[in-house]
Amino acid sequence: MQKYQIPTAEYESFTEADKAVEYIKRKGAPIVVKASGLAAGKGVIVAQTEAEAVEAVEIIMKDEKFGDAGEKVVVEEFLEGEEATILAFCDGQTVVPMIASQDHKPAYDGGKGPNTGGMGAYAPAPVVTEQIKADFKTEIMEPTLKALQSEGLEFKGIIYFGLMIKDGKAKVLEYNVRFGDPEAQVVLPLLETDLVDVMEAVIEGNLDQLEIHWKQQKALCVVMASGGYPIEYEKGKKITGIKAAEAEEDIIVFQAGTSLENGKLLTDGGRVLAVTALGSSFQEVIDKAYAGVEKIDFADFQIRNDIGQKALEK
Ligand code: GLY
Repeated sequence: MQKYQIPTAEYESFTEADKAVEYIKRKGAPIVVKASGLAAGKGVIVAQTEAEAVEAVEIIMKDEKFGDAGEKVVVEEFLEGEEATILAFCDGQTVVPMIASQDHKPAYDGGKGPNTGGMGAYAPAPVVTEQIKADFKTEIMEPTLKALQSEGLEFKGIIYFGLMIKDGKAKVLEYNVRFGDPEAQVVLPLLETDLVDVMEAVIEGNLDQLEIHWKQQKALCVVMASGGYPIEYEKGKKITGIKAAEAEEDIIVFQAGTSLENGKLLTDGGRVLAVTALGSSFQEVIDKAYAGVEKIDFADFQIRNDIGQKALEK
C-alpha cells in the first residue's frame, strides 16, 4: 500500500523486540501491535497504553502459540473511525465492487469484549456514502488492481477491502482474497444477478461485459455463537428450530460450526449459525432476524443484541 500510495495506516515491521519497543515509545499509544502472519484472527492487539503495547510485543515474539506468525511484529498507527467492508469481484483486468457492508467484530453488545471473526453484519452500510464509494474506486480499488498488475499478479477472484472510515475518508485496514464472514451472508442474498454468471465472467476475463444487478433491499444477519466464544466454548450441543426459522419469508439460516451426527444437528465450532433477514428497512430486518433467532435453540448460545443499531442511527 505504501508503494502504491493506497491510503492506509502508518506502520513499521520488526524482527527484533527492542526496535519495536523503541518505535512504540516514539509514537505513543494508542497503537496497534500485530503478529505478522496467520494467527487465526487473534494476532492483533489494540494497545491503549505504551505498557500494553510493549507487553503485546513480548507476548507475540516470545509466546510459542503464535508460531512463525510471531517472528515478526508490525506496529501500526491506531486508526479511529468506523469499519466497513467492500468486497469486489476481480477478473485480473476489471474490478467491480459489491454492496458495502458492516461487520460487528467485538463479542459483546456496544462493541465491547474480545474480537471475534464477526457476530453479525448488515448491508448496504450507510457509513459508506456515495462520495466515499466514488473515492474508494479511484483511490483504493483501481490502484489496488494496478498494483497487482504491476507486481505481475493476474488475480481472479474476490478482493476483500477492510476499511476504516473517518471524516468522510476511507483507509485500508486489511485485504483478504476471499469473501467476508459474516459479510457474505448479507451481501450475496442481495445479489440479483446469478452468482454463477459472475464467477464465469471472472474466470473468462470478461467481467467488463457483465452488468451486475443488486436488490434494492436491506439485509442483516445475527451470528449465533457457542457460549464463551471466542475464548473457551463447548461443542456438541443439539441445534433445533432451523426449519421453523426458515419457514418465515426472507429468512436464510447459514450453517458454519455445525456437524451432523446420527441424523442430529450439533454445534461444532465457535460461530455456529448466521440468521439473515431481507427487507425494506433496517428496522424490519433487525426485527425479522431476531425473530428468526428466537425460533432456534442450542444450549448456552451467545448473540449480540445490537446488530444494526449503527445503521438505524444513521
Ligand atoms: N468478518 C471479517 C472477515 O471475514 O475477515
